[in-house]
Amino acid sequence: MAADRQHPRFITIEGGEGAGKTTVIGALRTSLQADGCEVLTTREPGGTALAERIRGLLLGTSADGEPTEPMAADTELLLMFAARAQHLRETIVPALERGAWVISDRFTDSSYAYQGGGRELDGGFIAELERRIVTVQPSLTLLLDIGVGEGRERTRGRDLAFGGPDRIERERDDFFERVRDAFLARAAAEPQRIRVIDATRPADVVAADAVTRLQAWRMQGE
Ligand code: TYD
Repeated sequence: MAADRQHPRFITIEGGEGAGKTTVIGALRTSLQADGCEVLTTREPGGTALAERIRGLLLGTSADGEPTEPMAADTELLLMFAARAQHLRETIVPALERGAWVISDRFTDSSYAYQGGGRELDGGFIAELERRIVTVQPSLTLLLDIGVGEGRERTRGRDLAFGGPDRIERERDDFFERVRDAFLARAAAEPQRIRVIDATRPADVVAADAVTRLQAWRMQGE
């Protein structure tokens, strides 16, 4: 990753299914706002009107619950980066330029984990797209880590409430094991940027831990 493009107010939250990213993001936002910071929270794929439409293509299933046509892994990867290009240009970069903090629910690490790990696409191809598209990098990434079975258990109720699992959530456990391994390998390779948080604990404990990590990181000079 190009460390020279890291922005000190750009934070990303990563993790598998059911890791509790939403609660963590809310707690981080509250903590920064209490210090008088402007905070923009956003998500990937998504974060602009067009990128949210691309998200619909990526995660959608047809009315009968089956994908209308299988999506090729390369298509999936390119759509992730298409959404990211739009998200950077329309949302992330303007917010950072006006002095806001940006907290994104997922970013490029998810492409390495899901399309690289899960789909087993060539990491060199992903790195090439990253080099071309990702003009600004997060300087802090919190990886909420939880075992695949436990994470899935947690999302089950939510899936029932929101019309069933999306296209990616329907993958088998071995896919999510590869996703998790890829996330942890990235964290091991970039320990300064990526901090692993044990997300098996209750949501409020995980959120408090995330806030403490952010504060410690800010004190250490951002
Ligand atoms: P998300 O809204 O993060 O929901 P959850 O984490 O609760 O499942 O869902 C986005 C999905 O898109 C998720 O399955 C991960 C996937 N994804 C990728 O495969 N690659 C990417 O680059 C990104 C950003 C997300």
